[in-house]
Amino acid sequence: MSIEIRLLQALWFILPAYVANSVPVQISKVKVLERYGRPIDGDRKWLGTRILGNGKTWRGLFSGIFMGTFIGLIQVLIQQDVTGFFGVSLPQMSIELAFMLSAGALMGDMAASFAKRRVRLRPGDPAPLLDQLDFVFGAFFFAWLLTGTIDYDRFFVIVVITPVIHLFANFIAWIWKLKRVPW
Ligand code: CTP
Ligand code: MG
Repeated sequence: MSIEIRLLQALWFILPAYVANSVPVQISKVKVLERYGRPIDGDRKWLGTRILGNGKTWRGLFSGIFMGTFIGLIQVLIQQDVTGFFGVSLPQMSIELAFMLSAGALMGDMAASFAKRRVRLRPGDPAPLLDQLDFVFGAFFFAWLLTGTIDYDRFFVIVVITPVIHLFANFIAWIWKLKRVPW
């Protein structure tokens, strides 16, 4: 199978997780929702440092799961048309799968925050590759809980392209002066 088709299939599968992972960042910039930005760990500490930190909020968790699942619903509705348009078969999306990919993405992100706090990294401190891939691992784990299978080829494609997409998107944001550093 050609590389473009593999890419397309991989992106179609992981799209709800991508959305679930990016929505919390955007929502955090909406002023009127600030009061829902209470940290999930309720400010609590464990062994001297925050369990998760202020970067993991209920607002982010719920908005991410909701929007990721919503995108999955749209994918279900347009699956036939997109398949026809590209002339390739795409992995079947379902609401349940979109929900699990989204919830898993945010759980993976929280697990990484938990790990970062344990080694005394503060919210926002970089943990290269972990920061970019935490949600992918969580999404695949939760999808596996639902379906009992993992497509390792697809997993590999996504693990490779996700950091690349990240760097590329950050670079564009830097060119547009939305970010102060290009990474
Ligand atoms: N965010 C949120 N709730 C979540 C996940 C993310 O509100 N469950 C928002 C926060 O505003 C957070 C931002 O998205 O600061 C970026 O997320 P991320 O980079 O994962 O968090 P960091 O602030 O870097 O913190 P950490 O070191 O814990 O990953
Ligand atoms: Mg993170």
